[in-house]
Amino acid sequence: MERWHNRIAVVTGASSGIGTAVVKDLVREGVIVVALARRMDRLEAIRNTLPKDQQSRLHVQKCDVTKENDVNDTFDWIEQTLGGVDILINNAGVLIPGVLLTQSLSEINQVLQTNIVGVVHCTQRAFKSMKSRNFDGHVFLINSLTGHGVLTCPPDEVPNFSIYGPSKYAITSITEVLRQEFRGYKTKIKVTVSTNIK
Ligand SMILES: NC(=O)c1ccc[n+]([C@@H]2O[C@H](COP(=O)([O-])OP(=O)(O)OC[C@H]3O[C@@H](n4cnc5c(N)ncnc54)[C@H](OP(=O)(O)O)[C@@H]3O)[C@@H](O)[C@H]2O)c1
Repeated sequence: MERWHNRIAVVTGASSGIGTAVVKDLVREGVIVVALARRMDRLEAIRNTLPKDQQSRLHVQKCDVTKENDVNDTFDWIEQTLGGVDILINNAGVLIPGVLLTQSLSEINQVLQTNIVGVVHCTQRAFKSMKSRNFDGHVFLINSLTGHGVLTCPPDEVPNFSIYGPSKYAITSITEVLRQEFRGYKTKIKVTVSTNIK
């Protein structure tokens, strides 16, 4: 872990759950973290819970990963203020319960834009930063069991995960595409996927 001391990590979806836990672990281990989410009040509250000596390593920024301008502005700020991105944790994700056959397209789009397009955009910006500095960083993707197989629902029930599983299947595929592209560009940037149960 020491080689990552004072390196810059970006964590998306940092205002709750897994994202918050990852932020706390990284900051404790000496990494400088930029925590992103839409709810700034929650990000500020998380920073306030940290021991004083760790608070200076945590930067919080409002960023909706579905908004192109938010992502660009945030990564521009990181370049200008901190020098670049060394680690990206693509954690932001949503599951909007519903039935694929009937769910509104705006909800379907929200899931796809967050779970797929947001991941791709943040990864593009992190790659640009790493490549311009010739730094072999690390990109993480947070997947799900539903990204590897369709959960079996009892025959008398209607499943209500809708497009969430397909969006996580995309993460399985994107991971391999990224691995091959990083290799094709002759970088040693690592891509790691973590699969959680849901
Ligand atoms: N918990 C599980 O059992 C489980 C299982 C499998 C996979 N996962 C995956 O693990 C990841 C984290 O899950 P979690 O359970 O920790 O979820 P969570 O507690 O609901 O947190 C989701 C995070 O994503 C952020 N987020 C949602 N939409 C966003 C957007 N448009 N832009 C920026 N941030 C956004 C939320 O912050 P704001 O609302 O403040 O923006 C929040 O910080 C997700 O990718 C999820 O699919 C979780």
